Amino acid sequence: MPRKTNAIQEDTMGRLEGKVAGVTGAGIGKACALAIAREGGRVVVADIDGSADIACTAQIAAEAGHARALAMDIADAQAVAAPFETAERHFGRVDLLVNNARAMHLTPRDRAILDLDLAVWDQTMATNLRGTLLCCRQAIPRMIARGGGAIVNMSSCQGLSGDTAQTSYAASKAAMNMLSASLATQYCHAQIRCSAVAPGLTMTERLLAKLDGCMQRDLRRHQLLPRVGPPEDVAALVAFLLSDDAAFITGQVVCIDGGVLAHVPTYADGGNSRAARLAGDTAEAAAAPRC
Ligand SMILES: NC(=O)c1ccc[n+]([C@@H]2O[C@H](COP(=O)([O-])OP(=O)(O)OC[C@H]3O[C@@H](n4cnc5c(N)ncnc54)[C@H](O)[C@@H]3O)[C@@H](O)[C@H]2O)c1
Repeated sequence: MPRKTNAIQEDTMGRLEGKVAGVTGAGIGKACALAIAREGGRVVVADIDGSADIACTAQIAAEAGHARALAMDIADAQAVAAPFETAERHFGRVDLLVNNARAMHLTPRDRAILDLDLAVWDQTMATNLRGTLLCCRQAIPRMIARGGGAIVNMSSCQGLSGDTAQTSYAASKAAMNMLSASLATQYCHAQIRCSAVAPGLTMTERLLAKLDGCMQRDLRRHQLLPRVGPPEDVAALVAFLLSDDAAFITGQVVCIDGGVLAHVPTYADGGNSRAARLAGDTAEAAAAPRC
């Protein structure tokens, strides 16, 4: 079946031809799985929510190529073998892995250090960090057997800067950055590359439903590129890092955040220009919605 394409994809199509990938978690993972399939890869999508990954896989199968789905909890050390066994059974190999799943349901309870329920910390680490480790431990021996591979761990800008809440999430993402560097260092001799991708606010279908005036104002004030970041932008970066175009890149944390972490902290108040700061204060005060 011919793949759907457009003028831009025509140039880059096929970079993952013949490769087999595992992707955990839908959401941004769905866009990553689609991007991999559009580049010629075959994909196994695993998500704790069976309906999410089945919908994702159906879309890939219809649009771009071969895909399998299964429901699986990445925090379960026994169950975590299943997507890799599925990949080998149906597609014969495992070359690529995108560790994307995260325990989003814990976010509202992930508070400041003194207010934090330790169960939230433990569960966040069990899914985001330990789950990523477990998937890597499944993938690495299979990649070694095939002569190499590439892994992308989905981190976050929040793993690179402090915040007033989301203590566990941020710590788990910072640890994922170092896990990526360790993996890159320990398995470079086996031709396995590993980097972390650190998105800023990325508007999945789930988050788009929550995009209100306050969020839009924050985007305008704090991103250098003040637009909503779609999952497809992150997926394009992931596909690049998995491909041979990124053959000399490993052990990195690559931000894709519209420039949030690239500027001085006072940017939103006019940076070092006092006039701009005062003008910004006035304009912002007039425009600000009540959050
Ligand atoms: N969306 C953003 O703004 C944003 C920003 C920075 C980083 N990220 C990162 O990108 C990744 C994807 O984010 P998203 O917004 O698409 O998240 P999401 O919550 O929409 O999707 C995550 C998916 O992971 C699945 N999942 C949760 N626990 C699981 C488990 N134990 N086993 C298997 N699957 C499980 C969920 O069912 C869900 O489908 C995450 O790692 C997140 O930390 C997202």
